[in-house]
Amino acid sequence: MTDAIQSMLNEHRTFPPADNAAAHIPSMQAYRDLRQRFDEDMEGTWGQLAKEHLIWKTPFLRVLNAEKAPFFRWFEDGEMNISENCLDRHVDAGLGERTAIIWEGEPGDVRRISYRELLADVCRAANALKKLGVEYGDRVVIYMPMIPEAAVAMLACARIGATHSVVFGAFSAQALRERVEDAGAKIIITADGGWRRGEVHALKPSVDEALLQGCSSIRHVLVVRRGGNDVEMQAGRDIEWHEALAVQQDQCEAVSCPSEHPLLILYTSGSTGKPKGIVHTSAGYLLWARLTMQWVFDFHPESDVFWCTADIGWITGHTYSVYGPLACGGTTLMYEGVPTHPDPGRLWKICSDHSVTIFYTAPTAIRALIRAGDEWPKAHDLSSLRVLGTVGEPINPEAWMWYHKVIGKERCPIVDTWWQTETGGHMISPLPFATPTKPGSATKPLPGIFTEVVDGDGKTMMPDQGGLLVITKPWPSMLRGIWGDDARYVETYWKKFDGRYYFAGDGARCDTDGYFWIMGRVDDVLNVAGHRLGTMEIESALVSHKAVAEAAVVGRPDEIKGESICAFVVLKQEANNDLKAELKAHVAKEIGPIAKPDDIRFADNLPKTRSGKIMRRLLRDIAAGRDIQQDMSTLEDHRVIEQLQS
Ligand code: WTA
Repeated sequence: MTDAIQSMLNEHRTFPPADNAAAHIPSMQAYRDLRQRFDEDMEGTWGQLAKEHLIWKTPFLRVLNAEKAPFFRWFEDGEMNISENCLDRHVDAGLGERTAIIWEGEPGDVRRISYRELLADVCRAANALKKLGVEYGDRVVIYMPMIPEAAVAMLACARIGATHSVVFGAFSAQALRERVEDAGAKIIITADGGWRRGEVHALKPSVDEALLQGCSSIRHVLVVRRGGNDVEMQAGRDIEWHEALAVQQDQCEAVSCPSEHPLLILYTSGSTGKPKGIVHTSAGYLLWARLTMQWVFDFHPESDVFWCTADIGWITGHTYSVYGPLACGGTTLMYEGVPTHPDPGRLWKICSDHSVTIFYTAPTAIRALIRAGDEWPKAHDLSSLRVLGTVGEPINPEAWMWYHKVIGKERCPIVDTWWQTETGGHMISPLPFATPTKPGSATKPLPGIFTEVVDGDGKTMMPDQGGLLVITKPWPSMLRGIWGDDARYVETYWKKFDGRYYFAGDGARCDTDGYFWIMGRVDDVLNVAGHRLGTMEIESALVSHKAVAEAAVVGRPDEIKGESICAFVVLKQEANNDLKAELKAHVAKEIGPIAKPDDIRFADNLPKTRSGKIMRRLLRDIAAGRDIQQDMSTLEDHRVIEQLQS
């Protein structure tokens, strides 16, 4: 058991919710009432919310179609357009001059983009995409830094019914190629580069490299100028974004998309094989993005400035930097660079400079900033903040308390939001002005979401007994599948409980108050600094190096990152001093720097059972330097343990 989980088991403090009569959900009673509506009439309640919260081009008649479960369909006979719901709707309501995006570049340059301007840019971009041959249903890969054009690109795709797949800018050329090929994308939208840690990090060269082999579906590459670094432009293929947009009209009709039209594909790691392309569709996804903004963040678009620090390469950036805030007609802040540049006060300075009211980040960032010292937040005026959020991994109670005291001044409620790429939006979270919080617990499922902790057979666990976290009823923002692989969708999420429950892959415990405590992944997925990485992916990257015969990767508890990566490697050749660095660089090239092992250990063999399975639990104990608790009688070769421990 890790120290973090141990400290959660000993955690008994409770903090009452802050008072706010003007909140969207102002009390526990209001939360219970809303839940009850779903208990009594789940479909009717979703239907009513979808009518109230979205603008429809064709109203739906049917709420849920479960005939082909687990391939659920929501509001399927309705039609709408995501970009119209995020832009035109607000401009039409007279809010065109309201700021949609406040953007700050790492060097300190600032842009404020109004709804009217954003709509015009999105229309120009949509027209430019059409001109380049992008049609309804085509896929567009977006490989960009955190700049407003990334949001414009996403919304432009949505406007014409193209499906976007954003690939995190720090992924390697190889990882980009795999995703482009799997999605069969027609266009890549990228930038010359973006600012990170005081330097321009080039992006376009990775696109060029990815396109050297394969990627035969790609017709064009659109290049936004941001970094100012020199890039090669291939005549006929590569096109300047600004030039392409400049000649386009600032109006473009938003196409009518059926509710189940795929809005996005986002690749995420699983326990086996290559990353899977999680598919989200239109109406259900946007409905939940908007509702959770209101319920979980208590977002009031007329007065709040909302800042989610996640990169748009992750689902958090999709739902809470772009679609959620814009669907509500509010102001979202985007920041290009790293949190510690030029100093560890940067995030707090941005909060102060732009009067951020709702701030949402990952526990790993909080832990890193704790280490940097309290003087940094203390040097900035954080009085505009009113709600704080966390996401991505369990937050240890110590980090929660620091966030509560030093950032929130014991005044701002903290929402610890549990969810996944697959869920589209928050599933378990406190409501800031309703739910009493316990540090380290994501508290209770949101209204409309039905979660349980069960044993391997699907039987509900007794309170305080650890088990597997499942979602027992479908919800509108659920993934609709894995791109191009229906069988894997069923196998990964539904087979374990015979199609009855969605299996999240997380362990959890529910206490006697009905509060959920997430214990981390139960599969071979690592959570490194809030990023999901499959052990298999890293192992395949290692094995693709000529010196490596076999590799096993496990997570090791890490004070800042939550988990760090430890790789056990069997070599085909003699070890030498440079090889560890070379293997780390190799993984960075194959996947990206976030997947680089922190620790590599060489051995003659890996510990295996007699049936040939790698004993991962044993490796986890070794990596963490813990006493080995496992029965090793099935282990083939005891000598390897000594080698790996050293
Ligand atoms: C973990 C990120 C504990 C969990 C939105 C989940 C969390 C995985 C929390 C999904 C939280 C996310 N408490 N664990 N509040 N939020 N997780 O797909 O293991 O990048 O399964 O989505 O992150 O990661 P993903």
